[in-house]
Amino acid sequence: MSKEKDLYEKIVELAARRGFFWRSYEIYGGVAGFVDLGPLGAALKKNIEEKWREWFILKHQDFIVEIETPVITPRAVLEASGHLEHFTDPIVECRKCGRKFRADHLIEDEIGEPVEGLKPHELSKIIKERNIKCPMCGGNLSEVREFSLLFQTTIGPYSENVGFLRPEAAQGMFTSFKRVYEAMRGKLPLGIGQIGKVGRNEISPRQGVIRLREFTIMEVEFFFDPEEPTCPLLPEVENDELRLITCNLKMKGIKEPLIVTVMEGLEKGLIVNEWLAYFLAIGQRFVKDLGIPLEKQVFEEKLPHERAHYSTQTFDQLVKVSRWGWIEVAGHSYRGRYDLSRHIAYSRKDLTVYKQFKEPKILKVEELEIDVEKLKEFYGEHYTKIVREFSESDKNILLRELESKGYLSIAGFKIPKEFFKVKTVAKKVKGKRFIPHVVEPSFGAERLLYATLEYAYSVRNGRVVLKLPKDIAPISVAVFPLVNKEPIVKIAKETYENLKSMKLRVLYDVSGSIGRRYARADEIGVPLALTVDYRSVEDDTVTLRNRDTWEQIRVKRKEVYRKIPLYIKGEISFEQLGEPA
Ligand code: GLY
Repeated sequence: MSKEKDLYEKIVELAARRGFFWRSYEIYGGVAGFVDLGPLGAALKKNIEEKWREWFILKHQDFIVEIETPVITPRAVLEASGHLEHFTDPIVECRKCGRKFRADHLIEDEIGEPVEGLKPHELSKIIKERNIKCPMCGGNLSEVREFSLLFQTTIGPYSENVGFLRPEAAQGMFTSFKRVYEAMRGKLPLGIGQIGKVGRNEISPRQGVIRLREFTIMEVEFFFDPEEPTCPLLPEVENDELRLITCNLKMKGIKEPLIVTVMEGLEKGLIVNEWLAYFLAIGQRFVKDLGIPLEKQVFEEKLPHERAHYSTQTFDQLVKVSRWGWIEVAGHSYRGRYDLSRHIAYSRKDLTVYKQFKEPKILKVEELEIDVEKLKEFYGEHYTKIVREFSESDKNILLRELESKGYLSIAGFKIPKEFFKVKTVAKKVKGKRFIPHVVEPSFGAERLLYATLEYAYSVRNGRVVLKLPKDIAPISVAVFPLVNKEPIVKIAKETYENLKSMKLRVLYDVSGSIGRRYARADEIGVPLALTVDYRSVEDDTVTLRNRDTWEQIRVKRKEVYRKIPLYIKGEISFEQLGEPA
């Protein structure tokens, strides 16, 4: 007897058959970690992105803006960001069959305990102690080493000009921070958001659409003054309950989350920053709007060794799905001043922000100067290049670098400290420069798309009804002529054209019995079906059918154009659409 499909398999089957998603490059056998979105999947993802935009950008549009930056990133940026060094996963190879595995996953499968974040030598030790072998052929395993998750390419025809597919959109927001800050009239707090593709060369992605090598990230880098970290919007969310699995609970082995309000989370010191707490609540509301109930969402605090290299505190936002358990749909990180200070150090450009003091202060400040005469003497004609690069660089950064290294690399020359003068002068100072701190809510769109489908999936009388939230359903209304006869078809087509011209996504279906057409529309989550029947010819009314209850209501045709958008947006109920049929 064949085994009943689990929910994941049912969704994957429906997704491929009806055009939500399928494995990319199927005709060549498919490639793990890549997914094609079909007509319905692409539309659903756009609607999820739009919902994210509503919650994160439009709601805060006076101080959070959206930008677009390239997916190809030069090496220098990822060197500065720390990704070249840290963005790796542990890999282990079978010495007999040559297969490669992600070492921590392989160990977790064998011993049933989490080992994420352990160093390669610690993982190698566990493999030896527990005598773990290749799961495919039983062969001995190699030492564990780091594997870079960055997809590498070259920029232009020069092999030394290395670029990478960005692993996160964030770096584009950091490198363009100063431009956006100035364009936004130099005010903090400032959020910079972006939706775009990222690439992570996962070692062996095995979870279909859940673990992709290329996916869409929706993230905000939120910059604020660390001396003014309060969030004035907190009262709006302070009573929202959060389910937190804190580091403390994890270390005690407690799996049940602690339920606290946003305010309690802050007061108890569980969440280190008000803006971080605010975005946890907004993130939770956003995901709830996709149809994923609050009790199916938790925030898991990452232990220090599990956190990304840039993070001071991170909560992964997890949702429960049937086959894979709790999966991460977002990371909420306090990145502090890490990224901007790294880019300042590596680019030597001033990415600081100026803040005026209430009263001017007299302060002793150090100024760095270069000895041009001495440069001419030692570096001859090259001195102009050196002076130019020196004058274009931020002197404070150079000063710190000179103090730590004892020399400066300028225009390709290593110039010792004897060529510089540091003068201490007393100055009346009106303000100071500082590096803003950052909190980052970052969502993965494809995982949300899958989880949304799972929570929408229901079965009624043996038929699938996809109860997608009305405002994210890929198709808002289906128009059916009851029979394929005039003047019913003419009225249905005219209604269809009118609805289309209102920029609604509409489906027109004339083939098969009306019952089959309802079933096909239910299976892809169309919230309303509009049927033109014999009575429509008499009184110019149509029926509207509710996907979720199968109730029908009679509405004057001229009213559907005004009422359907209101119903889709949730501003009126089904009953308010018309009269019982
Ligand atoms: N920027 C968030 C991440 O890399 O996951």
